[in-house]
Amino acid sequence: MLRIDVVTLFPQMISDALRHSIVFRALERNLVAINVIDLRDYTHDRHRTADDTPYGGGGGMVMKIEPIAEALEWLGCPLNNDTSAGCGIISRPRVILTDPRGRPFRQSLAREWAQEQHIVILCGHYEGVDERVSKFLVTDSVSIGDYVLTGGELPALVIVDALTRLQAGALGGDSAAEKDSFAEQLLEYPQYTKPATFNGWAVPEMLLCGHHALITKWRRWHQLKLTSKHRPDLIREDLLSAADIKLLNEPEPVPPATK
Ligand code: ADE
Repeated sequence: MLRIDVVTLFPQMISDALRHSIVFRALERNLVAINVIDLRDYTHDRHRTADDTPYGGGGGMVMKIEPIAEALEWLGCPLNNDTSAGCGIISRPRVILTDPRGRPFRQSLAREWAQEQHIVILCGHYEGVDERVSKFLVTDSVSIGDYVLTGGELPALVIVDALTRLQAGALGGDSAAEKDSFAEQLLEYPQYTKPATFNGWAVPEMLLCGHHALITKWRRWHQLKLTSKHRPDLIREDLLSAADIKLLNEPEPVPPATK
């Protein structure tokens, strides 16, 4: 079972968000174990200080290394690089720092990390984290996108969600995750449900025609068109099949004419 420890200054933000939907069900069914660790529990002063002013001046506060190092040690990441102990080889968890400067978090990374046994996610905050944390304590720094958030809690939740839904059984059937967008590098096709008409806006006729082969082609056409419009970076013609390249250059498939 995958174990994820989230180290944060705002534990409530994480634990509240875990009480819903697929992640909650996965927790209930022991498909994943998620521990929320309050970084301030690893401070030793009256004010539970986890940050301080930056060396060299400038505004803002920087997260201190000591509480982080102590929390990580407690979670099984010793400070020294000694990988052996009396009981044999220690397997160290992957320690991920959420950081707008990190490498982009993508589905391929989620798939890789979903195979791990133990992951620690350290939520960055304030103006930054003492650089020695990235340099000596962390195995991966990751950004969830090119924007700056107030803290690492939302990125941590994004990572938790992406890894949890990839655990066997989390979605009900194992094939569901494979059908998701990015599993094959194309965006999802548009979906509709009842009613067939709302406010004069009708569901595409194709989806009501009952012609399954044509519906599959229509969906594929929309996947290809949407991806080339919104995410041209994901379209690699050398990775598309000849049939997809042909379809991409065709007009939208239409349902058979009704008599
Ligand atoms: N912390 C603040 N912004 C972030 C981002 N975009 N990704 C990861 N961590 C962050």
